[in-house]
Amino acid sequence: MNNHLQEFNYQDAFSRNIGWVTEAEQQVLQSKRVAIAGVGGVGGVHLLTLTRLGIGNFNIADLDIFEQGNFNRQAGAFMHTVGRQKVEVMEEMAKGINPSLDIQSFANGVSFDNIDAFLDGVDLYIDGLDFFVLDIRRAVFAACAEKGIPAITAAPLGMGTAFLNFLPGKMTFEEYFRLEGRSAEEQQLLFMLGLSPLILQKKYLADHSRVRFGNKKAPSTPMACELCAGVAATNALKILLRRGDVVAAPHGLHFDAYLNVLKKTWRPWGNNNPIQKLMFLVAKRFIDKAGASEIEEAPPLLTPLERVLDKARWAPSGDNTQPWKFEILDDASFRIHASDTRDWCFYDLNGQASQIAVGALLETISIAASGEKLAAKFTRQASAPEDKPVIDVELVPSDQGPSPLLPYIPVRCTNRRPFQSTPLTSIQKRELEQCLGSDYKVIWIEGEHRKQMAKLLFDSAEIRLTTEEGYRVHSQIIEWDKQFSETKIPDQAVGFDAFTLKLMRWSMQSWQRVQFLNKYLAGTLAPRIQLDLLPGRKCSAHFILLAKNELTDIDDFLAGGRLLQRFWLTATKLGLQFQPEMTPLIFSRYVADGEPFTENENARATAKQVAENLSGFLEGANVRRAAYMGRLGHGPMPQARSIRLPLAALCTRPPA
Ligand SMILES: Cc1cc2nc3c(=O)[nH]c(=O)nc-3n(C[C@H](O)[C@H](O)[C@H](O)COP(=O)(O)O)c2cc1C
Repeated sequence: MNNHLQEFNYQDAFSRNIGWVTEAEQQVLQSKRVAIAGVGGVGGVHLLTLTRLGIGNFNIADLDIFEQGNFNRQAGAFMHTVGRQKVEVMEEMAKGINPSLDIQSFANGVSFDNIDAFLDGVDLYIDGLDFFVLDIRRAVFAACAEKGIPAITAAPLGMGTAFLNFLPGKMTFEEYFRLEGRSAEEQQLLFMLGLSPLILQKKYLADHSRVRFGNKKAPSTPMACELCAGVAATNALKILLRRGDVVAAPHGLHFDAYLNVLKKTWRPWGNNNPIQKLMFLVAKRFIDKAGASEIEEAPPLLTPLERVLDKARWAPSGDNTQPWKFEILDDASFRIHASDTRDWCFYDLNGQASQIAVGALLETISIAASGEKLAAKFTRQASAPEDKPVIDVELVPSDQGPSPLLPYIPVRCTNRRPFQSTPLTSIQKRELEQCLGSDYKVIWIEGEHRKQMAKLLFDSAEIRLTTEEGYRVHSQIIEWDKQFSETKIPDQAVGFDAFTLKLMRWSMQSWQRVQFLNKYLAGTLAPRIQLDLLPGRKCSAHFILLAKNELTDIDDFLAGGRLLQRFWLTATKLGLQFQPEMTPLIFSRYVADGEPFTENENARATAKQVAENLSGFLEGANVRRAAYMGRLGHGPMPQARSIRLPLAALCTRPPA
């Protein structure tokens, strides 16, 4: 340490600041003391940024220790600092930059008892407290106002920063935020709305379930913390050196790097401003409606088998039915109890769609096992009824490395929106074809032929939308007002625009409403255009997976499902978006098998037409050789999707 002190040279260390500050100003900065309460997400970066600016003295406070949950944003969070006091680590880091620093550390955090000591001799206070710590925050800001200490708060919001200064003699924190007499939740909301009157960040929140007032946890980004530190330190410089215009509450600034937007905010009377009051009422109603449900933390997965099953859960199934349960037998073996949905699902009357899904599950298990240096051996119990297949799985050691498809298991998903139609490259097509092996080939439907396929999908959709049997399924498989659904398809992932979604929701209350809409208001038109015609044209290619031989029994469909999952994961690895388009194939199969799938004669006639048109794409092959069809293309990942039941709910007995 002494050696370092001898070697350290303040002038040299901060010489590159000179130019933006004069040498004399640098000396002033060295003499200043800045207090930072909280040295986690923003506070930690504030400390390091101000240290590099050359501030010579700090009072820092934090009662927390570092943990892995801090890694995404906190300057002092490393594997080697987990479990250590934040103030101790941050003091070390700052002194690693400037060993001559004078740092007073408050390892029990700031409390009502030590505010005076914490602010003793301080020229400037910067707020680094956790968003949800409001009582102490209010007390510190009040003490700053009383002592004439300027105070800065820069809040990391989304991928930006919203920033306010509270300067001596100007509007105080309390006058701006108006938290007095409010409940804890109301205070959080008022603090949020005061910091960010424009709530810019809400435009790109990707997972709404992660923001719950009352949970005391909100998502954060490292970029926002860095932006906060840049803005706060610049204002610190201006305040401490009395340079430039300093914006003070009720004026503020919100810079959002994601939206490329900088907004100046001005809310005279702070949260007493009529606009703020209105926003508060609207936001409060919204929050009350959403509730304060806890995000359940998944239990840790202890054994390799549990980890394999936890990945396998992400296999796709028709309408996200997940028609399987896992019975764990011992550390290396389990049993899959599948059950097809033929008793209620219009699209699975022969159980084949479920069998394909179970095949996809087997392939997912195999790939997941490769990540644990295991291989999966499957034995289907021949005695089990065909609609309730039972498959024994044994995990055995394997020398093979992890499958290149492993990382894509939870990424793979269904995208029902239109894609960009840039053609697939020959390299992409070759990789997709090769992943199927020699028993299957891909029929590509590209270029102008996509229009015919779009028309075929449009016709096939009429069957879905005009049959009572179809209605009964649809009314069960959509979860309304949802971005994510554990057991169904969330409405936001269906692919409707906002208006059609509302219309569909209204009409799907009863079959009579659907009939009325179909008869008098051409009710099938909007969904068929949005879900079939447009996406049918807007894609790089449609595909049909064609087997060498006809698929006749359950083992053929299980094998087809395995290859489908390989194909889908390979597409995901290639960065392609994917949507199954199975209904024309399902209806064609019903026609070929003479399956009386609906009472509706028109629909049966349409199915015959669909079957005939589909056979035109099959290069002369019988429809029984087609295992799967869908479309591929380029575009953003969907923001809404089906998720899965937790592992415990899929096990016949919870994992030990
Ligand atoms: C056999 C099978 C048939 C499917 N058919 C369709 C389909 O015709 N249209 C569609 O949009 N999605 C279809 N899907 C996709 C499922 O709805 C989807 O996989 C499920 O909801 C889970 O969502 P995820 O794929 O986003 O994880 C099918 C999936 C499987 C396994």
